[in-house]
Amino acid sequence: MPKRAKLVVGNWKMHGRLAENATLLQAVAQGTGELPADVRVGVCVPCPYLAQTQSLLEGSRVMWGVQDVSAFTHGAYTGEVAASMVTDFGSTLAIVGHSERRAYHRESAELVAVKTQRVLEAGLTPIVCVGETLEEREADLTEQVVGAQLDEVLVKLSEQEAARIVVAYEPVWAIGTGKSASAQQAQAVHAFLRSRLAAKGAAVADVPLLYGGSVKPENAEELFGQMDIDGGLIGGASLKAQDFLAICKAAGAISVSG
Ligand code: 13P
Repeated sequence: MPKRAKLVVGNWKMHGRLAENATLLQAVAQGTGELPADVRVGVCVPCPYLAQTQSLLEGSRVMWGVQDVSAFTHGAYTGEVAASMVTDFGSTLAIVGHSERRAYHRESAELVAVKTQRVLEAGLTPIVCVGETLEEREADLTEQVVGAQLDEVLVKLSEQEAARIVVAYEPVWAIGTGKSASAQQAQAVHAFLRSRLAAKGAAVADVPLLYGGSVKPENAEELFGQMDIDGGLIGGASLKAQDFLAICKAAGAISVSG
C-alpha cells in the first residue's frame, strides 16, 4: 500500500482563454472539495491567467502556479518572468525542465538546475521534470538519462532545499501520445529515482514523485497505486474538468487517508 500522500497537478501548457478558464477553474475548485484531506491538487497555468486563477481558486483547496520561470531574479531579460513575480499572485508551484522546454527551447540540465534554485529562493515548490526519449529507452539508457537529469539539480541543492522539491517522471514518448508508460515501467523508473533521492539524504527520500504522460481517468488508479508513484502531472486531461476530477478521485481512492 502506498504510504505517501498523493499530489495531482494539471499542466495546461499553452492552452486556455479567459472564458473557458473560468468554467474549468470553477469546476475544479468545486469538484475537489470532496476529496480525502491528504490528496493535494494544483494547476499550472499560462502566466497571463495567474490573476484570474488566483481570484477563482483562492479559498479552495487547489494550489496554482506556472510552467516555467526565468533563470534570473530580475533585470533586462525581455520576455522573461521571474519566480518572485509569480508569488505576487499567490502561486506556490512552478514546473521546471519540462521536456518541451528542454527540446524546443534548448534548456540544458544545468539551466534547469539554476531555475530550480530561483524557484526555491522565491519560496515556491519546484516540480522538476525528467524523462527519456524513445530512442534513449530503446538503447537502454533510461536510468542513465533520468539519473543525470536529476543529479544535475540535486548537486546544486542542500539537503534541506532538495527536500522541498517535487520530481515528475515524464517519458517523452508518453507525453501527448495517448500511450502511457505501463504502471510497471513507471514504477521501475520511480524506484530508481527514489534511490537517487535517498542517496542525497534521509529528508529527501520521501520527495513526491509524480508520473506524467497520457494519464487518463482509465489508467490513473493503477499508476497511482504503485509504491513509488505519489501522483501525476497531467497535460491534456487537465483541460477537461470531468477528466481531471476523475484523476484526482483515483488518487483519493488509494490515498493514505482515503
Ligand atoms: P499529457 O498528459 O497530455 O500526455 O501531457 C503530460 C505532460 O507533459 C504534463 O506535463
